[in-house]
Amino acid sequence: MNISVIGTGYVGLVSGVALSEVGHHVTCLDINEEKVAQLLRGESPIYEPGIEEMMKRNIKSGHLHFTTDYKEACDEADALYIAVGTPEKEDGTADLRFVKAVVDSVAANLTDAITVVIKSTVPVGTNDWVQSLFDEQAEVVVNVVSNPEFLREGSAIHDTFYGDRIIIGADNQEAGDVVAAINKSFDIPIFRTDRRSAEMIKYAANAFLATKISYINEISNMCDIMNANVEDVAKGMGMDKRIGSGFLNAGIGYGGSCFPKDTSALLKQAEAQGMPFPLMRAVIDTNADQQLKLIDKAEDRFGSLKGKKIAVLGLSFKPNTDDMRAAPSIPVTSRLILDGAEVTAYDPIAMNAAKNVLPKAITYAESVKECIQDAEVIFILTEWKEILSDLLSLIQDNNKKVVLFDGRNSYGYQELKDISLVEYYSIGRPLLTNQLEKVSY
Ligand code: UGA
Repeated sequence: MNISVIGTGYVGLVSGVALSEVGHHVTCLDINEEKVAQLLRGESPIYEPGIEEMMKRNIKSGHLHFTTDYKEACDEADALYIAVGTPEKEDGTADLRFVKAVVDSVAANLTDAITVVIKSTVPVGTNDWVQSLFDEQAEVVVNVVSNPEFLREGSAIHDTFYGDRIIIGADNQEAGDVVAAINKSFDIPIFRTDRRSAEMIKYAANAFLATKISYINEISNMCDIMNANVEDVAKGMGMDKRIGSGFLNAGIGYGGSCFPKDTSALLKQAEAQGMPFPLMRAVIDTNADQQLKLIDKAEDRFGSLKGKKIAVLGLSFKPNTDDMRAAPSIPVTSRLILDGAEVTAYDPIAMNAAKNVLPKAITYAESVKECIQDAEVIFILTEWKEILSDLLSLIQDNNKKVVLFDGRNSYGYQELKDISLVEYYSIGRPLLTNQLEKVSY
């Protein structure tokens, strides 16, 4: 089929590339000319393992094309995907400005009946609203179908080809059939429902995962107080199939472009209908507190952090991405600077992106080694393999005692027991810290 995808951000680009890989003829449109020129050269504007090879292959075979021209994207397309951003507004609601702009441009350029597929994460009722806009503005028949996206940054290509389900929300049976046919080659279970339920599935799924994370983080805080080990607690909980073991890693909270925005948008949608949803409010508040958990621990240990030389390792919101949106490194480094600490930071990929959003007073190092060489204190904020695999031996080589605050529970007793230079604190594992003290001090 001929498919056009509007928006070449994370969701749009990955969807477009994947649809071309399974044999469709895909035109991706973005209004950013510079970005389109880069894409035409086969260069990905996002850091995502595997995407460039797939892009290049499909550009070469003629299955994948990029343009800035709406007429070109609308001509001959059997289906048109909307995959533009729906960022969080100041008041916590989703900003639908970009969706509206796309609808206006598409409606003005359509010459044939078409199925419009909404991939962007949009509040419940948005597909109906977009349908009404097309009904008013387009001179041809348009059927709007909701097809939310479940890929994770950093494993987006893998998730697209090995997802758990594809959700298709259609109020028009034939339009739903078109989207089901487009997705047939992925060989992933398809669940069909109405548009509003499909929109709700996306929010409910992300908010539930965020809830799991905030829940295990609160349990980790209790483990800290009550001398239990959250890792074992999560393992024991996860063995119950009704609970499941995924998304029970305690740490310094969730970040990224999705969970913070979607939990907030879901809460706002409920409140707008007169429903307070205190559970979602608690999930969000817990996460904000959790992002500063290492600061609390460091203050407990030192009293004041003024003048402390602190190495911060890992800046992106999670490994394998350069995305800094809602990364815990933002509140953590801001507080460290405010408290008068001397901060040196390192990230394998996100350093350029970080420089735009983190406090100006931070010094950046070119390697883990350089980052820790003068440090008295080390914070691990993101569990990059590149950081974790060398850190302990680099600390030994540096021959300088450090206090290590690990926000991702990256190390276990076996790895730490022979490292005499480290005083170690993690999240919800006081027993581990106590065990090490017995050996090292
Ligand atoms: C998330 C969802 O997992 C995807 O299914 C969804 O499609 C996507 O949002 C979206 O709505 O576009 P993503 O934000 O890329 O994907 O990242 P995740 O891998 O889900 O991680 C989110 C955050 O939770 C990270 O900050 C991570 O460190 C944190 N996390 C995750 C934990 O703290 N503990 C865990 O056990 C798992």
